[in-house]
Amino acid sequence: MAAVVTAGTGRVWGILLVFIFNSCQSLFNGGDSYSRALTVQLFPNSNSTPPGGELLHVRAVGENDTLHFLFCSQGAPTLLIVHTNSSSSTVKVNWRQFLARNTSGSLTVEPQSSILYSTAVVFSRLLEYDDENNTAEATSNFFPAYELQDFSWSRMNLSDYTAVLCGSVPQSSNGSLCLQLSVFGSEGRAELWPRLLHSANSSQLEVWLNGLLPRSNTSRFILELQAVGGAYPLSKVDVLQFIDDEYTPSIFKVSQWVSSANNSSDVLGFIQWKPVAYRKSCPALEDATPCQNSDPLAQSGNTTTASSALIQAFYSDPKAMGMNVSFGMAGEPFYNSTMFLSWTMLVGVGSPPVDSFSPMVIGIMTAGLGIPIVLLLVGGVYLFFMKKKETSKMAYEPIN
Ligand SMILES: *[C@@H]1O[C@H](CO)[C@@H](O)[C@H](O)[C@H]1NC(C)=O
Ligand SMILES: *[C@@H]1O[C@H](CO)[C@@H](O)[C@H](O)[C@H]1NC(C)=O
Ligand SMILES: *[C@@H]1O[C@H](CO)[C@@H](O)[C@H](O)[C@H]1NC(C)=O
Ligand SMILES: *[C@@H]1O[C@H](CO)[C@@H](O)[C@H](O)[C@H]1NC(C)=O
Ligand SMILES: *[C@@H]1O[C@H](CO)[C@@H](O)[C@H](O)[C@H]1NC(C)=O
Ligand SMILES: *[C@@H]1O[C@H](CO)[C@@H](O)[C@H](O)[C@H]1NC(C)=O
Ligand SMILES: *[C@@H]1O[C@H](CO)[C@@H](O)[C@H](O)[C@H]1NC(C)=O
Ligand SMILES: *[C@@H]1O[C@H](CO)[C@@H](O)[C@H](O)[C@H]1NC(C)=O
Ligand SMILES: *[C@@H]1O[C@H](CO)[C@@H](O)[C@H](O)[C@H]1NC(C)=O
Ligand SMILES: *[C@@H]1O[C@H](CO)[C@@H](O)[C@H](O)[C@H]1NC(C)=O
Ligand SMILES: *[C@@H]1O[C@H](CO)[C@@H](O)[C@H](O)[C@H]1NC(C)=O
Ligand SMILES: *[C@@H]1O[C@H](CO)[C@@H](O)[C@H](O)[C@H]1NC(C)=O
Repeated sequence: MAAVVTAGTGRVWGILLVFIFNSCQSLFNGGDSYSRALTVQLFPNSNSTPPGGELLHVRAVGENDTLHFLFCSQGAPTLLIVHTNSSSSTVKVNWRQFLARNTSGSLTVEPQSSILYSTAVVFSRLLEYDDENNTAEATSNFFPAYELQDFSWSRMNLSDYTAVLCGSVPQSSNGSLCLQLSVFGSEGRAELWPRLLHSANSSQLEVWLNGLLPRSNTSRFILELQAVGGAYPLSKVDVLQFIDDEYTPSIFKVSQWVSSANNSSDVLGFIQWKPVAYRKSCPALEDATPCQNSDPLAQSGNTTTASSALIQAFYSDPKAMGMNVSFGMAGEPFYNSTMFLSWTMLVGVGSPPVDSFSPMVIGIMTAGLGIPIVLLLVGGVYLFFMKKKETSKMAYEPIN
């Protein structure tokens, strides 16, 4: 009996040790060690500063591949990611055609045969509605939408591998909508909530509204996004649940808008986010507000092409899917409470990063599993020796 107990606990210990070892390994290795060398260039392929919005190019060179991140404020803000199977692919821009915005093919990635996949996200509109009954249902009472292609966009504020772009409503200097793009050379996690896990194959985009005057005291906002691709645009949103909220307190879900090839289950590209926005620039738990997304719907590629110079320049036959993200929930404070709202997402190629258990949860699980096992083991050993004592007593008795 005791032998069975110890053999059993031995196996559990073995499994536990392997588990702890694996977790520690992924902790110290950082899970994924794929890294990329980054170079940043504003206005690629140009000696002068063309008029109008800006175009930023971040080249992320991996072992045998390159990711080209292109971020453009000419028209609606757009991020385009092109994945090539060569570490020497380049971006070519015909600036005269690019600025004319009437032909496709004015921005190309050479050699064309090296392109594996491309995906883009366009920030097309900001919607505002008067949630007078505090239901957050967003079915009526809409104010005229803000077309982000009509905003006046500032110069990008570049530092290291991040770029901040702010835009304001034309003829008004009150408040702005800003986007911060961060590109990464290796796996990691930002300091501020929601602390999404990123890899060298993804970039982070944070969007925030700051001081934009609401048109009613009970206004709430909705952001409209368009995902654009060639053959396989992002088409469905999956929601994953998990039990660990250490990195994003109170949030146990992650949503990912993914694209997969027709008959394969491989994810080619993604936009990933946690369904939470924050009402202050330094996020805290009391400033968290839930957000919800609509189902992606196919859009006319022509509309997207007209609103974004980058889409017009790169895609000849874009396929677009639109999705709305609405901020706030019935009963939550309105936008006027802080006049601030921020939301963060990752955009990348390949499969979205998957959060593993945090060290704290591993600790709790180890303690939770470990203490009963230690008790079991101690109990087993105790029983074993008691039994042995008894049997040795019994064995000696007949002699005496
Ligand atoms: C990169 O290419 C070289 C030469 O073709 C090859 O030896 C190496 O295994 C490749 N590395 C990866 C990660 O595919
Ligand atoms: C694009 O616009 C430019 C100037 O605005 C014009 O010269 C050119 O013919 C146009 N091209 C096409 C294909 O419409
Ligand atoms: C990848 O690289 C090879 C060799 O350079 C090339 O022949 C091929 O067309 C490239 N593109 C794709 C999509 O595999
Ligand atoms: C709010 O409630 C009032 C009274 O119940 C109703 O008349 C009005 O249509 C509601 N507004 C919205 C936007 O649902
Ligand atoms: C640009 O960013 C840096 C660091 O984030 C900040 O200190 C600086 O004030 C910013 N400049 C402008 C013009 O916003
Ligand atoms: C902007 O805000 C200032 C005060 O904060 C106000 O005086 C001004 O009228 C506002 N401008 C517009 C266009 O709303
Ligand atoms: C990133 O992409 C490279 C090249 O496609 C791949 O080898 C690597 O596993 C990817 N890393 C992650 C975390 O997806
Ligand atoms: C919004 O709230 C402020 C302060 O409570 C108030 O002065 C103002 O009249 C309100 N505006 C509207 C349109 O209800
Ligand atoms: C926001 O609007 C509500 C509802 O009208 C009002 O009671 C409140 O005072 C406003 N808050 C601010 C900060 O203006
Ligand atoms: C998938 O491929 C089949 C034939 O191979 C085609 O009939 C179908 O329309 C494709 N579906 C999509 C979503 O492209
Ligand atoms: C996927 O579909 C294409 C055509 O739609 C076909 O040629 C290919 O063999 C299919 N691949 C698999 C794995 O079924
Ligand atoms: C998109 O534009 C092309 C060329 O300008 C035109 O042929 C096509 O009919 C348009 N499609 C839609 C859905 O408007």
